[in-house]
Amino acid sequence: MTLTATPQTIATETTLPAGNARLNAIVDDVQAALIEVIRKHRVTDEEYRDATLWLMNAGTQHLEIPLMLDVFLAQAVDDLNHQITEGTDCNVEGPVYVAGAPELDAPCVLPQRADEPGTRLVFSGTVRSCDGTPLVDTLLDVWQANGAGEYSHFNPDVPEYNLRGKLRTDADGRFEFATVIPSEYPIPLGGSTGQLLAAMGRTGIRPGHIHFKLSHPAAQPLTTQIYFEGDPYLHNDVVGAAKDSLVVSPVHGVDDQGRPAATCSFDFFLSPVS
Ligand code: BEZ
Ligand code: FE
Repeated sequence: MTLTATPQTIATETTLPAGNARLNAIVDDVQAALIEVIRKHRVTDEEYRDATLWLMNAGTQHLEIPLMLDVFLAQAVDDLNHQITEGTDCNVEGPVYVAGAPELDAPCVLPQRADEPGTRLVFSGTVRSCDGTPLVDTLLDVWQANGAGEYSHFNPDVPEYNLRGKLRTDADGRFEFATVIPSEYPIPLGGSTGQLLAAMGRTGIRPGHIHFKLSHPAAQPLTTQIYFEGDPYLHNDVVGAAKDSLVVSPVHGVDDQGRPAATCSFDFFLSPVS
C-alpha cells in the first residue's frame, strides 16, 4: 500500500480545539501550494537541501527576510487589501522607510547636499477626497533615492534623512517640494535575495520613484509611489510594483541658475474612512 500524506490528513491529525482556525487554513494552503510546486517540478533532494541552506543563510542576515518578502509578495498583499474602486492606487512601502523624517516648512525642500546627484525637480500637486474636496493639512511623509540610486540610512556615504521629509497641504489642499529626480537603482543585492535573483538571471533593478505616505483624519491612509515617464525599468521592475496610474511626465527646462531642472505634478485622491 502507498501512503500519501496530503495537507488535509496532516491538518486533521494535528488541529486541537485551541488552534487558530485561520492560521491552520492558511498554513495548510501554503503547504499544499508548495507540495504542488515540488511535485510539478520534481524537486530533488539536493535542491531541497539547497533551499533549506539558502533560507538559513537569509535568516542570519539583517533585514534579508523582509527584503525577500517585499520583492516577491508585498505588492500582492497591498493590492488585495486596498482594492478600492476610487482613489489613488496604493504601492508597496518597501524596506527603506525610516520614521522620524524632519517636518519641513514652506517653501519645502527635501534635505539634500549642494551637489546632490540628480536633475533638480519641483514636485507639486493636490490632495483631495474622492469627491474632489481639498484635504487641508494632509501630512505627506516623503522618501526617495537620489539620482545615483542612493537612499540615506542604507548608504554609509549619504547623510541621515537625506531626501526624506514631511510636509503638509495648504488651505487649498496643495503641496509643493523641491527635490531631485531619483534614478533607477538595484535593490540591496549583497545578501541571499541578491544571490537568488542573480541565479535566476534577474537584474534586481527598480525604476526611479518617490515614496509617499499620506494621512488625513477624514481619509484612509495611503502608501504609494510615483514613477517617471520614460524610465526604462517601468515595465521591468524587480518588485513588479510600478503602475501606469502612478506615472508622472516631468517637464524639463533650466532653473534660475541655468542648471537642468524639471517640474511635475500629481493629484492624490484619498478614500473616505469607512
Ligand atoms: C523600494 O522601493 O525601496 C523597495 C520596494 C520593495 C523591495 C525593495 C525595495
Ligand atoms: Fe524605493
